[in-house]
Amino acid sequence: MIRTVYLNGEWLPENEAKVSIFDRGYMFADAVYEVAAVIGGKLIDYADHAGRLKRSLEALEIPFSLTDEELLALHREILARNAVSEGLIYLQVSRGAHDRDFLFSGDLAPTFVMFTQARTVIDNPKRQTGISVIIYPEGRWANRQIKTVQLLYSSLAKMEARRQGADDALFVEDGKITEATSANAHIVTKQGVLVTRGLSNALLHGITRGSVLDLARQAGLAVEERAFAPQEARDAAEAFITSATSFVMPVVKIDGRVLGDGKPGPVSKKLLELYITDRLASAI
Ligand code: PDD
Repeated sequence: MIRTVYLNGEWLPENEAKVSIFDRGYMFADAVYEVAAVIGGKLIDYADHAGRLKRSLEALEIPFSLTDEELLALHREILARNAVSEGLIYLQVSRGAHDRDFLFSGDLAPTFVMFTQARTVIDNPKRQTGISVIIYPEGRWANRQIKTVQLLYSSLAKMEARRQGADDALFVEDGKITEATSANAHIVTKQGVLVTRGLSNALLHGITRGSVLDLARQAGLAVEERAFAPQEARDAAEAFITSATSFVMPVVKIDGRVLGDGKPGPVSKKLLELYITDRLASAI
């Protein structure tokens, strides 16, 4: 099926949407993006994704002229045009095209792209078994709170995980885990405390992370926002990662070592249930 995508004000068949070879997103990874899940044709955590998009754009001083209403209307229209019921919307804003130069002026016209991917989000089979991860040195730039398209290091780390027979990698910096290649990382200690790294420039401020922490606190779970070491993760009762597309994904193996009984744990399962129920109710 040929999707209809959005490019700079136009709706186009995906094979006709073209971006300049001089686009700074292509040359310098000078672009930010968002990924939001869609369930039953509705947007999950939309307002938070739109809010983070603005923060990423402001951080890089990329101008963006769409109003909140226009941006939401585009989300609705792309879902309707592609009849997407379950999957995701990807959007990217680059600074725009200019002859190659490390210096850029503030008056470039940004390149704005949106497309959909239909896929199973709720009944992801991996959630039944859980995933395995490797521990891998952090090697990304220092401003990971900005959701930029500089994803090469993460892509290579995930390829290395695959080579080692695992599903994903947890990055470690100064002896502490930052996050996974495209998700936030969390553990549940043997005492039942949910531990997750506090927000800083070391990690993306995940929207799903925020929602899951709120739900955990509401459910009376003890939550500690602090950095944790790989050894603490290996000794944990449970571990899981969160993202817009994986929701709450249990981690059952770290560097080949099985966590607990090797099955998704009760806290991860409970948080997933709470997340799905709560987010479906507030989807727009
Ligand atoms: N990635 N950390 C990183 C490095 C990420 O790339 C992501 C999301 C997250 C989770 O953030 P959120 O809960 O807002 O999705 C954390 C998206 C899904 C991606 O690149 O496809």
